[in-house]
Amino acid sequence: MNTFPSLGSPFFPMELDPTINFSLKDRSSESRPDGDWGAFEGARQEVRDVLEEGSAFCAVDGDRVVGWIGGLHVYHGKVWELHPLVVAPAARRSGIGRALVAHLEDAARAAGAATIMLGTDDEDGRTTLSQIDDLYPLLPGILCEIASLDPANPHPVDFYRSCGYAVVGVLPDANGVRKPDIYMAKRL
Ligand SMILES: CC(C)(COP(=O)(O)OP(=O)(O)OC[C@H]1O[C@@H](n2cnc3c(N)ncnc32)[C@H](O)[C@@H]1OP(=O)(O)O)[C@@H](O)C(=O)NCCC(=O)NCCS
Repeated sequence: MNTFPSLGSPFFPMELDPTINFSLKDRSSESRPDGDWGAFEGARQEVRDVLEEGSAFCAVDGDRVVGWIGGLHVYHGKVWELHPLVVAPAARRSGIGRALVAHLEDAARAAGAATIMLGTDDEDGRTTLSQIDDLYPLLPGILCEIASLDPANPHPVDFYRSCGYAVVGVLPDANGVRKPDIYMAKRL
């Protein structure tokens, strides 16, 4: 079991242990304006759903969950799909997200997976892709130019790049017009 460096707490495989206060109030109010992820039961259901199809780990601070990550086993386990990843707002920018990703990669590698993939939505106009009405004529070249529009409110595509992930595709209009899903992957 890895040790989370700054909290001095371990990562736990998630089993909906009732002794752990599952109190992550949001997966992201900014990325999920419908608020569905904010509900306690909704969060528990999300963990259940991930555990049915894969693996999940949380970082804890005392008895509080401060972040969690899931990995769905796809392509017969040769690929793990990172979904979801969330760090509690007050605990962000302190290395927890990066550490959770590294922990999931270790687990996937140990299980024989060769790749981690993920999709990261741009639903609220935070990347350059949202400024283009029709992405299709610009594919695949446009994939090299994806960038966050506001450095003060960067899109997670920058976070995943800093963890070694490459953009491998995009689904234009996945969440409505000019709201694409950006696909990223990393070889383990
Ligand atoms: C994205 C998220 C998981 C990052 O977690 P975190 O614990 O704050 O990230 P870390 O502190 O480990 O940061 C790692 C690196 O990414 C950068 N980074 C952190 N959050 C970032 C973000 N939202 N966008 C861009 N870069 C980010 C940091 O500067 C850091 O780089 P550095 O080590 O060179 O300084 C967190 O912001 C979050 O939970 N966001 C809401 C949910 C979400 O968007 N999940 C991803 C959906 S695909």
